[in-house]
Amino acid sequence: MDFLISKDIFYDNLSRMIPTMNKKTVLIIDHENLVCWSLAKMLKKRSCSVEIANTGRDGLLRAMHCQPDLVILDAALPDVDGLDLLEELKDNIPELPVIVMTSSYHSNLAFQAFKLGATDYVGKPFNIDMIEKAIEKIFSRQDTAQDVQPSRSKLRKKYEPDQLVGNCPSMVELFKTINLCAQNDCKTILVLGESGTGKELVTHAIHDQSARRDAPLVEVNCASIPDNLLENELFGHEKGAYTDAGSREIGVFEAAEGGTVFLDEIGDMPLNMQAKILKVIENRKFRRLGGQNDIATNVRIIAATNQDLNAMVQDGRFRGDLFYRLNMMCISLKPLRERKKCIPSMVEYFIDRLNGEYGRAVAGISSEALRMLMAHNWPGNVRELRNAIERAMMLEQGKIISTDHICIYPGAENARNGGCVFGCNMSAESAIVLPPEGISLEEVEKEYIKQALARYEGNQTKAAKCLGLSIDTLRYRRKKFGLDNYPAKTSPISAPADQKTSRDAQQAVPG
Ligand SMILES: Nc1ncnc2c1ncn2[C@@H]1O[C@H](COP(=O)(O)OP(=O)(O)OP(=O)(O)O)[C@@H](O)[C@H]1O
Ligand SMILES: [Mg+2]
Repeated sequence: MDFLISKDIFYDNLSRMIPTMNKKTVLIIDHENLVCWSLAKMLKKRSCSVEIANTGRDGLLRAMHCQPDLVILDAALPDVDGLDLLEELKDNIPELPVIVMTSSYHSNLAFQAFKLGATDYVGKPFNIDMIEKAIEKIFSRQDTAQDVQPSRSKLRKKYEPDQLVGNCPSMVELFKTINLCAQNDCKTILVLGESGTGKELVTHAIHDQSARRDAPLVEVNCASIPDNLLENELFGHEKGAYTDAGSREIGVFEAAEGGTVFLDEIGDMPLNMQAKILKVIENRKFRRLGGQNDIATNVRIIAATNQDLNAMVQDGRFRGDLFYRLNMMCISLKPLRERKKCIPSMVEYFIDRLNGEYGRAVAGISSEALRMLMAHNWPGNVRELRNAIERAMMLEQGKIISTDHICIYPGAENARNGGCVFGCNMSAESAIVLPPEGISLEEVEKEYIKQALARYEGNQTKAAKCLGLSIDTLRYRRKKFGLDNYPAKTSPISAPADQKTSRDAQQAVPG
C-alpha cells in the first residue's frame, strides 16, 4: 500500500490529531496575497487555525469574532492605517499579542507600534524563519501562562518623530533594543560605535521612548570641556566654592533630574572624573563643588564613545570598574559599511527630508549614483552619507541625483588605494595634482578645514584630529580664514550642556 501523501495533507491531518486546547488561532491582516499565503502555510504546518483578512475593517470584525491567539498585522493596509487598527485591537483586547509587519524603514513606525502595544515587529520582505521564531516565542509564553501583557493602550498617543532610519536586519534589531532599553529603566547604558553611526540619535530615541521623556535630556561632551571645568559642569557649585563662583549654580545632574544625562565621548573623561561618575552611579548621589551635603539623583546615564574602551582599560586610560558597570547594558552600532543594505532607505529618507528643508523637489537618485554609494566604504558613516546627499542636492539641477554630483571622500585606506581625496571625479593618479596655473596653498588649506568642520558639524576636536592638527592650531586657522562660525549651527552637540534639553535638541537636530 502506498502511504505517500502531500506534506500539506500530512500536516492538516496532524493538526486534527492535536487536542484543540493547544490549537492556536492566528489572524493575518494583510492585503498582499502572497504574504498571507506563505504565512498561512507556515502556520498550518504548526497546526494553527488561520484566519485571513485583506482589509483593516474585515480584520477588526474577524478579530472580534474568532478571538485569535495572535494577530499578524501589516502596517500598510488599503483602507485604514495599520497602527490605528493596532490601537483599536489593543483597546478591545489588551492582552492580544500582535506582530506588526512593515516595509517602512522609519524607526518611528517601530517605536510607535511598540508604544501602542505591538508584541513584535518584523521588516518586509521578511524571512519566514524569523516570523516563525517570533511566533514560537509568543506561543510558548502563552502556554506557560506567563504572558501577562500589561495593557499599553493607555500609553501616551502623543508621538514625537525620530530621525533614526534603516530597514536592514541590524537596524530592526536596534529599534527593538532601543525599545527594550526605554521600557526597562536600566540606570546606565553604553552606546558604542564609530563616529557618525548614530550614537546621539540612539540616545535621543531611548530617552524619547522612555518614561523619562517629559524630564530633560541633558548632554555633556566630555571631550570639549577642559578637565578642570568638567566637575563643575556635571555637579555645579555652591557660592564661593572658588574665586569666580559668585552664586550657586546647578550642574548637569541636577538639570536632568528625573531624566537622562548623556555623557558623550566618555572615553575622553579624565580618570579622576571617571571615579566620581562611578560613585554617582553606585550611590545615586553627588555633591556640588564646595557643598557640604549629598544630593540624591534620579537620572539615567547614557554614555557614548567611538573609542575602544576595552583597550583603554588594558592601557590604564579608562577605569575597569566604570567600564564594567557601563557595559552591563551596551548598544553597539555597526559601521555603515557593515549595513550597506540600509543605504537605499537612508538615501530616500535624506532626500525626502532635505527636499522639505530646502524647498527642493528632487525625486530620487540614479541607479548608477546609488551603485557608487553602495560601493563606498563610508569611513564617516551615516554622517558622511547625509553630507554627500546634501551636497549632491545643492548641486543637482535636475530631478534625479546623478553621479556628477556624488562626491565622496574615501578614508585613508581608500586614498592609499587610489581613491579620490579632494573634489569629485578624480582619477587615481590625479588625486592630488598641482594645476598648471599653480594654486594658493592657503585656499587649499581653507577648503580642507571647511570640509573637516562640515564633516564633523563644527566639532573642533574631531575636525582637528582628522586634519592632524592640535585644537589650538585649528582655532587659530579658523580665525585666520574667517571660519569662526562655519558651518552654520544646526547640530545640538555644541550648545552649552546646561541649557540643553531634549526638546531643544529635537528642534535643532537635522536628519
Ligand atoms: N540611522 C540613522 N538614520 C538617519 N540619520 C542618521 C542615522 N544614523 C546617523 N544619522 C545621521 O548621521 C549624523 C551623525 O549622527 P550622530 O551624531 O548620532 O552620530 P554619532 O555616532 O554620535 O557620531 P560622533 O561619534 O561623531 O558624535 C546625524 O546627522 C544623524 O542625523
Ligand atoms: Mg555623537
